[in-house]
Amino acid sequence: MKISTAILSSLVALAVTPTSWVFAQDGTPNIPTTGTASSYACDPNTCKLPTCQCASQSPPGGLKPEEVPQFVTITFDDSIQAKLVETAHALLNVRNPNGCPAKGSWYVSMEYTDFSLVQQWYANGHEVADHTFSHVGTPSAQEIQAARAMLHEYAGAPLGKIQGFRAPFLNYTADTLNEISKQGFVYDSSATAVTDDCYWPYTLDNGMANDCWTGICGAGIKLPGVWEIPMYAVVDNANTAQLMDVYLAGSSQDVTTWTTTNFDRHYNGNRQPFGIYVHPTHLTKFDGVPIVPGAEEPDVMQKNLVEVIQQIAAKENVWFVSNAQLLEWMKNPVPISKLAEQSYMKCDLPNTGKEICNGLQNITVADTGVVSSALTNNCNFNVTNWGTCFNCPSAAPTVDNPTPPPASSDRHAVPDNCDSIWWDPVAGQCLCTTDSCAYKDTAVPVNGTDGKGNGSGSKDGDSAAISISPVVSVAVIGSVAAGAFSLLL
Ligand SMILES: *[C@@H]1O[C@H](CO)[C@@H](O)[C@H](O)[C@H]1NC(C)=O
Ligand SMILES: *[C@@H]1O[C@H](CO)[C@@H](O)[C@H](O)[C@H]1NC(C)=O
Ligand SMILES: *[C@@H]1O[C@H](CO)[C@@H](O)[C@H](O)[C@H]1NC(C)=O
Ligand SMILES: *[C@@H]1O[C@H](CO)[C@@H](O)[C@H](O)[C@H]1NC(C)=O
Ligand SMILES: *[C@@H]1O[C@H](CO)[C@@H](O)[C@H](O)[C@H]1NC(C)=O
Ligand SMILES: [Zn+2]
Repeated sequence: MKISTAILSSLVALAVTPTSWVFAQDGTPNIPTTGTASSYACDPNTCKLPTCQCASQSPPGGLKPEEVPQFVTITFDDSIQAKLVETAHALLNVRNPNGCPAKGSWYVSMEYTDFSLVQQWYANGHEVADHTFSHVGTPSAQEIQAARAMLHEYAGAPLGKIQGFRAPFLNYTADTLNEISKQGFVYDSSATAVTDDCYWPYTLDNGMANDCWTGICGAGIKLPGVWEIPMYAVVDNANTAQLMDVYLAGSSQDVTTWTTTNFDRHYNGNRQPFGIYVHPTHLTKFDGVPIVPGAEEPDVMQKNLVEVIQQIAAKENVWFVSNAQLLEWMKNPVPISKLAEQSYMKCDLPNTGKEICNGLQNITVADTGVVSSALTNNCNFNVTNWGTCFNCPSAAPTVDNPTPPPASSDRHAVPDNCDSIWWDPVAGQCLCTTDSCAYKDTAVPVNGTDGKGNGSGSKDGDSAAISISPVVSVAVIGSVAAGAFSLLL
């Protein structure tokens, strides 16, 4: 078995006029994924939940496969923009057995992101996670920290709720894993699980158990309490592991067959989570933007994927969850019969009694893609503009200075004792008055800063914005001479 790596991919920042198409080659060789895991060892007698979990193909907590839910995680990568959110909602248009809508996870990079939409995404119970500031293949500590700082400052996501990280191009390294541990992230989700290493999520107390062919398993990384949620590959009929954007690898019919076959392998086997990992740009029709060479039209691919998702959702005991929800279950696994009643599976929206700028206010999207609401501020820098419920920054955020001083002071930043869904940033008031909605953020501060960038970020009532065009970031895949291509972004 090998992973398809004849991959050409790049994030092309398409400004108003598509001037240059940049193709970056990932350049990794074909990947053997069997027989190299021997350097991983873990003793389940000492490594115990909720803080430690050995890599295992069997469900956690001693549960039998038929006793555990089949979790499906649908994840989205890169910038959050109006049309891309629409695509995400189309994919997530299914309900869980307890009646709650499906939840997803978004690994957000900062360029082209509209922070009012990030806040809306978060407020609806979805997960917001870190995918670096500028989507670089070898991110510095500051790249990782800057993204988290902006998601907090301009989208109001509580620092402690930004728990996950995914490496751009999935190009994670021992250094990067060490760094996210240092910055207090709860998990990484960049590794690949195929069949022999199709492990349930596990902690890195004993290092990595996936991608052993890279040497990472013997690299001596030991990060107690940090989880790896491997990305589960779909093995196609050529025995090639497809990971992200499987819809680009074949006809709609092929993709449906592969996805269904692999889903059934999990569902009828050990019920490891099943993943659908997308770059919503491929599934979204933009006027004037070329489609991926050799692929079907974005709307056709989207329609097909939605059908596959609906078919999966029609099966019994299937739950569509964010990676954050999955981890809640992993830490304290309960049988199917008890899942509906777990607090993290509920879907109550806050009843604040009035419309506040908490992400749930009326947001409109113009044909031009510009997002607005009566309550959001519009931040304009050079060629970019985006909305936020907080104060705009006085200068365009950069990776080194992601949260410049605010341009005004009429909005109040989310404090660490209120979740933003209950926070009125205009009045500077937490509208949560009962224990059930009380929140205390315990995110690990980074090196003496408050965890919000370089420490110059405002403590209260401040915010910022980013300086890029409100257009689209388009991931373009070159079809390789050899034929098969899949995308590793
Ligand atoms: C992935 O990381 C390695 C090690 O830092 C680096 O040499 C390589 O250029 C990176 N690849 C990409 C696509 O950025
Ligand atoms: C949202 O705005 C529209 C148009 O202004 C209005 O008709 C609708 O009632 C608003 N919805 C909410 C929940 O306020
Ligand atoms: C504005 O954007 C243009 C095009 O990206 C860039 O060349 C210019 O340096 C920017 N100006 C400022 C003040 O950031
Ligand atoms: C920190 O932020 C300030 C602006 O508030 C900026 O001038 C400075 O360069 C930043 N320092 C570092 C080390 O990023
Ligand atoms: C934190 O501090 C240590 C030593 O004080 C330093 O080596 C490290 O680079 C710092 N990390 C960040 C993210 O600034
Ligand atoms: Zn990406």
